[in-house]
Amino acid sequence: MRIGIFDSGLGGLIIAKATRKAMPEYDYVYLGDTKRVPYGNRSHEAVYEFTKEAVNYLFKKENCAIVIIACNTSSARALRRIQQEYLVNYNHTRKIMGESERKILGVLIPTAEECAKYKRVGILGTLGTINSNTFPKEIKKINKKTIVFQNPTPMLVPLIEEGEKVLAKQFIKKYLKPFLNKKLDAVALGCTHYPFYKNEIKKVLGKKVRVISQDEIIPKKLKNYFARHPEIEKKLAKNRKAKILVTDITPNIKKLSQKWFGKNTRPELIHL
Ligand code: DGL
Repeated sequence: MRIGIFDSGLGGLIIAKATRKAMPEYDYVYLGDTKRVPYGNRSHEAVYEFTKEAVNYLFKKENCAIVIIACNTSSARALRRIQQEYLVNYNHTRKIMGESERKILGVLIPTAEECAKYKRVGILGTLGTINSNTFPKEIKKINKKTIVFQNPTPMLVPLIEEGEKVLAKQFIKKYLKPFLNKKLDAVALGCTHYPFYKNEIKKVLGKKVRVISQDEIIPKKLKNYFARHPEIEKKLAKNRKAKILVTDITPNIKKLSQKWFGKNTRPELIHL
């Protein structure tokens, strides 16, 4: 069986690449919903439906034992409901058929766990993620004393996808400005794309502020999860294979997937 990694688009490739580097032995399948990206400004219902369709595809068609929802917007707005409604039913049916359970993990809780180690934390994310208030809620569940500041950064995803560095740097300064007088200990990059500009963000924040970046924390958390769940780990194939599925292919999608995942990347078109 495989490890599935899902994102609204291609940003999650940054997390997929880091995870594959940390655990190259497994077989991975990445699914980017490039036809319907961005999710950041969509309704709860739309994000839920789209995410559910993608997870269902990865379970049924790609034989994934576990799916990582690399999209923060999906993790913030849909994950809990998907686990409580869709996954419970899915696993119930599998049990009746004598088959093993599947798992879904998001990127938000592992990130919240890192944030909860600090007193004063800033969160950057899409409008959907920030408006859902999920980061502060989850951080407070772990550490009531952590003070959380949030700022939506809606322009960063399109600028990163366009490779527009000069403008992106200007927006980074603008979006980080409200954080600069808050005496923050850490800032979490709560969106798949932002690790791409980690260094620029670090420069603006200065050395005293830790930047919590999901490409650094998710591979470690997943490794740890497998150590605690050998029943899942032992089901995983170890052929060192990876494939990328997308719901739309354009020249830009080919270019970005090669830039973010490697020169030999050939995205395959699928329909959800
Ligand atoms: N993948 C999304 C996230 O991490 C960013 C792109 C989008 O808006 O869909 O929130």
